[in-house]
Amino acid sequence: MILVYIGIPLVVGAAWLFVRLISNRTLLKRLPIPPSLSGHHQSLASQVLRLDTEVRANPRSVEKIALLGITYHANQSFDEASACYRLAADLSPTDYRWPYYLAIIEEASGDEDRAIKLLNHVTQLEPGYVHAWARLGNILRRSSRIVEAKIALSRASNLDPTHPHACLGLARIAASQDDWEGVIRILEPMLKSHPLFAPALRLLSRAYVQIGRKPPFEEDHDTQIQIEDVIDEPLLDELYERSALALIQGDPNRGILLLQTRCSRCHSTDRIQKADKSPVQWLHTVGRMQGQAGRERMTDSEAADILSYLVKRPH
Ligand code: HEC
Repeated sequence: MILVYIGIPLVVGAAWLFVRLISNRTLLKRLPIPPSLSGHHQSLASQVLRLDTEVRANPRSVEKIALLGITYHANQSFDEASACYRLAADLSPTDYRWPYYLAIIEEASGDEDRAIKLLNHVTQLEPGYVHAWARLGNILRRSSRIVEAKIALSRASNLDPTHPHACLGLARIAASQDDWEGVIRILEPMLKSHPLFAPALRLLSRAYVQIGRKPPFEEDHDTQIQIEDVIDEPLLDELYERSALALIQGDPNRGILLLQTRCSRCHSTDRIQKADKSPVQWLHTVGRMQGQAGRERMTDSEAADILSYLVKRPH
């Protein structure tokens, strides 16, 4: 009798451990092998390796797996990022964040159908996440699925009447139907809260010209350059912050020197010295400036050093 009391729990326990071991192994098999990150900034590469080791020690921790995915994503290692997000989504299928990040990767790689499927799923899991509706609506619009696009964009603008991308999407649909009054009606209130949103400014000034009125601002004002990243989106900020955390480990002493040469080519460094921004905002700006200059003229490591100086300098 005693043997039965001890024996059964022992067998059950051993079986449970065995099953868990096997399934942990299956999970680990699906975890991407860290690629060679030699082209990347040292601190980013070590961050990936550290997280990878932590996940391998505890393959069921969804948040860690997702963080590894976000870190890959922030390093443009999209295949590895997708693998992590898929793993996280399988482990916690009701969390909308993982399919959302996956959708962003699919959208960037041009697979709009897959992005649409994923975003439909996201909006079912979390109908209150306005950015998912706006993103979905704009992809549908670009795929010429206008009826569905309008529904998704309207859902977004019901949640946030001045959501920049939702309004721009709706205005672009109105423009494609020659409804220029509609374009103005949609964009003007939104631009009051997002006055720097360049693509909307451009479309609004086209609408003014179309109906024979003078545009409300000078054509050469900020509208020449696409300023896409004035929009706060919590999930994307987390993505940027991952790289910001690593990037502020650059060398501020090199950064202050590099700033004089790399950042003075297109404008004076005055405006840079005067600007007061959070680390994430600086990351956006420096990333955008690197895009303007080209990676060959401003490498990742140089950008990291400059960013590190900007974030750590005394105000
Ligand atoms: C290839 C040209 C070019 C280089 C190089 C460049 N910038 Fe700019 N910068 C621009 C342009 C164009 C604008 C105005 C449009 C905009 O903001 O995107 C601008 C605007 C800015 C602004 C004001 C807008 C904002 O986001 O606050 C800051 C600050 C700035 N740059 C910082 C920098 C820093 C820091 C560097 C060096 C890492 C740099 N720039 C290098 C072209 C450049």
